[in-house]
Amino acid sequence: MRKKIVAGNWKMNKTFEEANELIDDLVEALEETTPKRDNIVIVCPPFPYLEMASDIASDSYYSVGAQDVSAEESGAFTGEVSAAMLQSMDIEYCIVGHSERRAYHGESDSLIARKVNQLLANKIQPIVCCGEVLEEREANRQFDVVRRQITDGLFHLSDQQILNVVIAYEPVWAIGTGKTASPEQAQEMHAFIRSLLAEKYGKPIANEISILYGGSCKPSNAKELFANPDVDGGLIGGASLKASDFIQIVAAMNDARK
Ligand code: PGA
Repeated sequence: MRKKIVAGNWKMNKTFEEANELIDDLVEALEETTPKRDNIVIVCPPFPYLEMASDIASDSYYSVGAQDVSAEESGAFTGEVSAAMLQSMDIEYCIVGHSERRAYHGESDSLIARKVNQLLANKIQPIVCCGEVLEEREANRQFDVVRRQITDGLFHLSDQQILNVVIAYEPVWAIGTGKTASPEQAQEMHAFIRSLLAEKYGKPIANEISILYGGSCKPSNAKELFANPDVDGGLIGGASLKASDFIQIVAAMNDARK
């Protein structure tokens, strides 16, 4: 059965000291929640804090992810961080194709596909983001957009490879806006993504792939979002910056009966 996952995307927030404090608070709060076997908690801090987060993680039950990776293997790419570097630091997950990377850094589906390849070659699980912008939803083009992102970003992968991918559906109009997709809108798109996976890889494989929801997910709405049959957890931005909020979202995942 596919895993339930709550991942915190800290984005470009926190000084080193603040990051350390947040991790300490998280560890403490996680000790008080009952971990459920197979449920996964991931923390994705900025690159400079990965080592600190991963050192502390060894005494807790969260995993560590990066927020991005280079599409190149190694060499003269100033400022870039390779998948091999992340692997050498025991980083297990990495977000790719976040809408902020697509919008502000011009990332295309084909670049994202190359990043996914680098990660899989280094045994890191990609958390691949997809999602439409507001104008696309208003024009009822959200399914076409997500189909293109999933097809061009992922469908070159083998059966074995796709099983190591996590997908995050993040409608761009819901990210950081306080405006969340309704549970029905989330379920509809998640079921659509799973049907695309089933068409390409078959139902048994599609049923093994975790599809997370992201976009203003918070303690007050996590429960109803996670109750949907095809919503396997969340990718959390703003609410992951406060341990007490993040932990309530983790608890909502643990309580979701599915
Ligand atoms: P948000 O961000 O929870 O602050 O909307 C989600 C994300 O961008 O991953």
